[in-house]
This record gives sequence, C-alpha cells and structure tokens, in this order.
Amino acid sequence: MPSAFEIKGLRIVYSSKQGPVHALEGVSLQAEDGEFISVLGPSGCGKSTLMKALAGLLPPRRGSIRVYGEAVSGPTPGVGIVFQNAVLMNWRTVLDNIMLQVEVRRLDRRAHLVRARDLIRLVGIEGFEHHYPFQLSGGMQQRVSICRALIHDPPLLLMDEPFGALDALTREMMNLELQRIWLDRRKTVLFITHSISEAVFLADRVVVLSRRPGQVRAVARVGLPRPRDLATMESPEFVKIVGELRRELQAHGPLE
Ligand SMILES: Nc1ncnc2c1ncn2[C@@H]1O[C@H](COP(=O)(O)OP(=O)(O)OP(=O)(O)O)[C@@H](O)[C@H]1O
Ligand SMILES: [Mg+2]
Repeated sequence: MPSAFEIKGLRIVYSSKQGPVHALEGVSLQAEDGEFISVLGPSGCGKSTLMKALAGLLPPRRGSIRVYGEAVSGPTPGVGIVFQNAVLMNWRTVLDNIMLQVEVRRLDRRAHLVRARDLIRLVGIEGFEHHYPFQLSGGMQQRVSICRALIHDPPLLLMDEPFGALDALTREMMNLELQRIWLDRRKTVLFITHSISEAVFLADRVVVLSRRPGQVRAVARVGLPRPRDLATMESPEFVKIVGELRRELQAHGPLE
C-alpha cells in the first residue's frame, strides 16, 4: 500500500500584481492510509495553500506531491474537500447540494442517491434532506459539506478550518461527530485548524508550520486511545501535548 500522500520539498510561490508571494518552502510530509493529521500554524503561513496543492489546484514551484502513489499534476480525483465556510448553494436542497458532486463528476445518480441518504444518516441530519441551507444551523450546514465531500467515496479528505465559524460547544460536538465518522469510514484526513486542543483531540499526528513561507516546524504524535471523549481533554497526556504545542507556536509568534 503506498502512502496516502507524500509531499517532498514543496515550494509554492504565488504570482500577484504586487510581486511574488512565497507561501510554502521545503515542506515534506507523508501520511499513512487512514491516518488523521492536523495542521496548526499562524494566520497566512500557507495552511490553505498546502491543502490546495494536495488537491492539485496549485502547481508546485519545486518538489513533488503524490496521492496514493499517483503524481499530482491537476485536480486530484480521489480527494474530498470541506472548506472553511460551508459554501452551499442556497437554491438547492440539502440532498441536491450533496448530489452536486455526483452531477459534476458525472457519476451514477441512483447508486449515489443511496450513498447520500446513508451519509445523511451518518452525520445525523436525516429528516432535513429537502430543507434549504438557510433553514439549517451552522453546524448542520457543515455536516452537509462533509456529506458532499464524502459522496464520491474519496480515500483522502481535506478539511480547511471546517468548524472555525461555530460556537465552542457546537464545535466540541462536531469534533466528537467527526471522530465517529472517521472511526466508521477510516479516511485519511488532513485537518487544518487554529485550535490547538481541536488539533490534538482529533489527530494521530499534529504538524506545526512556521510563519510564511510555511515550513514544518514540529510534528507531535498523539498516542491517546480512541474513541476519545470530552474527558480526554482533561487527561494529563492531553494537557501536556497541548502545552508543548502552544509553546512551539508561541516561540514563533501568536496564532492569529
Ligand atoms: N491567490 C493568491 N495570490 C497571491 N497570494 C496569495 C494567494 N493566496 C494566498 N496568498 C498568500 O499566501 C500566503 C498563504 O496563504 P494561505 O491562505 O495558505 O494562508 P493560511 O495559513 O491558510 O492562513 P489563514 O490561517 O488565515 O487561513 C498568504 O500570505 C496569502 O496572502
Ligand atoms: Mg487558510
């Protein structure tokens, strides 16, 4: 089995009217199949850039990216993406928002309708299939985005601060839900966040990026047993890892 993804010596430079913006430098990172990796780093350090590069949406200036053994040179078919804001289409129902991926990718509609209903149950929004996004809470909208990202059954799920806009309690609940979904489906996940405790709670490994141009500063392994629950966050091991990561991040400037 090849690695889920393998990034080697990645450099990303944006061209802009104001001149080149050096976003990532020499980033190397590898994930095993089914691994959950969280990424922390100061605002503007290149986290979203890293995700877009993995999704094949940005060409590397230097270095290479492989997803399940395949060199990435354009949009990667085997990934699902959950963006920071749910970006749902307001004129489409929940079910039709999820099925949009199926239309765009020209997949079999009937088979994927069954999958869509299965995912709707998995994330706990059954009964809302025919509601419109404005009729849902922020947490429910993010659940729809997760269904949409998983509908074509990608082995790799990329999540860019998916719960950043939610209140603290909803966010904790979504973390528990995401862990449950991950334990059920065993996708490889790259999860970007500004929250150290969220990063640790979810991950097998936490990667810390430096200020721009983003470089890998530290990688912490989280060996806490699963399933983790809210009590996990009070365990000495959890508190210790969070403290270490906070010091690592503070040594290089505040998170936001
Ligand atoms: N299309 C673009 N053109 C030029 N510069 C860009 C572009 N997209 C991002 N950048 C710049 O690249 C750097 C990294 O951006 P990126 O969005 O990856 O940061 P980030 O770590 O995700 O930040 P945040 O935590 O605020 O979401 C920033 O300085 C940003 O201004
Ligand atoms: Mg970002």
